[in-house]
Amino acid sequence: MRDVLISPSILSADFACLGEEIRAIDKAGADMIHIDVMDGHFVPNLTFGPPVIEKLRPHTKKPFDVHLMIAPVDPFIHAFAKAGANILTVHPEAGPHLHRTLQAIRGAGMKAGVALNPATPASIIEPVMDDIDLVLVMSVNPGFGGQAFIESQLRKVEQLRRMIDQTGRDIILEIDGGLNAETSPRAIAAGVTAIVAGSAVFKGGPAAYADNIRALRPSVHA
Ligand code: DX5
Ligand code: ZN
Repeated sequence: MRDVLISPSILSADFACLGEEIRAIDKAGADMIHIDVMDGHFVPNLTFGPPVIEKLRPHTKKPFDVHLMIAPVDPFIHAFAKAGANILTVHPEAGPHLHRTLQAIRGAGMKAGVALNPATPASIIEPVMDDIDLVLVMSVNPGFGGQAFIESQLRKVEQLRRMIDQTGRDIILEIDGGLNAETSPRAIAAGVTAIVAGSAVFKGGPAAYADNIRALRPSVHA
């Protein structure tokens, strides 16, 4: 079985001490740090932008897996690169020129990801397969942590797994929303290689983070 990356979403962290929270999940075994950027327009919630990300950068060497839920994206690409984002993931609905956006992200030295809302078909990425490093399957409607996992997205994961395997390229297949000890092993069995989890990682405070992260990986006896 492939190694699975765990990317805790700091949306569920204590915003009053984000630096400490990032150090705690790094130490607890996080492989990447998932940062949800929301603009109150593309999704009905607001979070943070490049200045906050830049201040968080010195707190860990782990990759910043930045999920943009903003429209438009293009005017901000360089600001996110400068702030220290390693992967920049965008929704196709956020702008009219997905291919150009992906090229601009790579041109700015970052890996490029595409996020698919629950109602967005897998086929949308077919023409840009050579231009992406990550596909993010949203298993909730984006905007908030703590929502219930949408089962139908497992079929989309299986479909994307086949599409990615056909390319022969090492594209990360990530899933985001409602992942916990019960849903995560099922998503991994369907073919994902990265798990985003907010509420399931940050519940119980820093003393629980290592166990919470471990619970998202499939048991060796499974
Ligand atoms: C939702 C965000 C997620 C969110 C997941 O729009 O993209 O990353 O933090 O939260 P949980 O894991 O609590 O569903
Ligand atoms: Zn996210």
